Amino acid sequence: MNSTLAAPVETDRFRSDVLFGLSLPQKRLSAKYFYDAEGSRLFDQITELDEYYPTRTEFGIMRKHAPDMAERCGSRCLLIELGAGSLTKARLLLDRLDRPAGFVPVDVSGEHLHSAARELCDDYPGLNVRPVCADFTTEFQVPVRSSARKVVYFPGSTIGNFDPADAEDLLRKIARLVSAGGGLLLGVDLRKESATLEAAYNDRLGVTAAFNLNLLERMNRELGADFDPAGFRHRAFYNTVRSRIEMHLISTANQRVRIDDTEFQFRRGESIHTENSYKYDMTELSRRATACGLRTEAVWTDAKQYFAVTYLTAVG
Ligand code: AVJ
Repeated sequence: MNSTLAAPVETDRFRSDVLFGLSLPQKRLSAKYFYDAEGSRLFDQITELDEYYPTRTEFGIMRKHAPDMAERCGSRCLLIELGAGSLTKARLLLDRLDRPAGFVPVDVSGEHLHSAARELCDDYPGLNVRPVCADFTTEFQVPVRSSARKVVYFPGSTIGNFDPADAEDLLRKIARLVSAGGGLLLGVDLRKESATLEAAYNDRLGVTAAFNLNLLERMNRELGADFDPAGFRHRAFYNTVRSRIEMHLISTANQRVRIDDTEFQFRRGESIHTENSYKYDMTELSRRATACGLRTEAVWTDAKQYFAVTYLTAVG
């Protein structure tokens, strides 16, 4: 819908973020850039891998506790999903919500979002579905005028991609968006044994590696860069000090890459830091949420305590 207008602006943003990120001493790129059409497709494949426990665990929690969650959300709420992707988890909620005022899925991947939203419309006739193609870390407009209570649904541990200070900014922003009495249903991946975490980001089929390397192909496609993807390899490890999985692309040789008029040098073994995926401790999360104006009302988890879904309300 507005994706034709948004596209050139998005590419400019991508270009300037890349030029900046690759000129830092520790080269880095934002994890949000994984999700072009190909990246979104690869991510959907990741969610089905044996080693990648988060998606299936969160699904299990959602299936089991959707009635409780829907009750927390309350009658006639306006549900806003951030980083919506394929909309499969939201369905579990929508099936249980009492006469929702509307559903606003927000995602940067426009094509993916719009096709998922169309399918959703077919399956939920009468539901007011208003997809928004936007980067939810920037200001975006909620295209529904209504006095309904707002509830943000932020599943998938996407919040794990944000450094602690940025995560707190985002929580504050969500609290402001839903306003006093509004809610946040948040999915977070929990801390656990390193081996389990590291296996989830180093799958045997190499799908996560392809997902990481696709970022190089995306820069080639959209920015006319001349990366040789064969000159880089995927690396993911758990940083126990910072409680996060880090993903990097490691240059396997000394090489140069050109984007526009800028040449970037890579030493053999040098990395581009492409993702952080923070793992949470529920007590700590609740404490930090309180500081952001959000009170923890309920926490649902699985038997192994691998993942948690929590309902928080914005306090006035
Ligand atoms: C979508 C950010 C939750 O951190 O596990 C999966 C993305 N990266 N495999 C995650 C991802 C590599 C995922 N999040």
